[in-house]
Amino acid sequence: MNTLELILICFGMYMIVSISWSVAGMFGAPWVPTPIWVVDRMLKMADLKEGETLVDLGAGDGRIVIWAALRYKAQAIGVEIDPLRCLWANIVIHVLGLGSRARVIYGSLYETDALPKADVLTTYLLQSTNQELSEKIYRECKPTVRVISRTFTFPQFTLVSQDLKRNLFLYKHQQ
Ligand SMILES: C[S@@+](CC[C@H](N)C(=O)[O-])C[C@H]1O[C@@H](n2cnc3c(N)ncnc32)[C@H](O)[C@@H]1O
Repeated sequence: MNTLELILICFGMYMIVSISWSVAGMFGAPWVPTPIWVVDRMLKMADLKEGETLVDLGAGDGRIVIWAALRYKAQAIGVEIDPLRCLWANIVIHVLGLGSRARVIYGSLYETDALPKADVLTTYLLQSTNQELSEKIYRECKPTVRVISRTFTFPQFTLVSQDLKRNLFLYKHQQ
């Protein structure tokens, strides 16, 4: 492969990432991955236990789902609108041998039917998306669900704890 081919491949990959980033932004949130050490803090705050089910709305490259299945032995389901990131996440899940515990479903978080399964629900979206989602979460999640959101809040739910250094907010959605 010569230098020109390498530059064209890099440019093509950049275009794919950039187009999918903008498209996802129009749906509910752009892709900004959470560092793994913050993911771990989220799951600790939510007290995720072995065998519980975690749902990550807007799963990106599947890192929360993968970490939950790998380190916490949870059942983990992601929902992701971007087909490339969804494919990538499922490839990594397969390579790590986590297929029995983890998967990322291609689809919209506004239409997912995964919510009733969640013991822990993670979100890192936008304030407006949280706003739109809160009614669906309230209607479809178990009353005992622990909702943990990065950066953006759910003012309608009851705040249980927060980590202001990392902008993490843990909620229960009923009084
Ligand atoms: C800020 S990223 C968070 C990714 C991951 N949860 C993390 O914390 O690393 C938001 C993700 O939500 C996805 N997303 C945006 N709108 C969506 C929708 N309507 N349905 C499903 N996923 C969506 C984006 O494609 C993006 O990957």
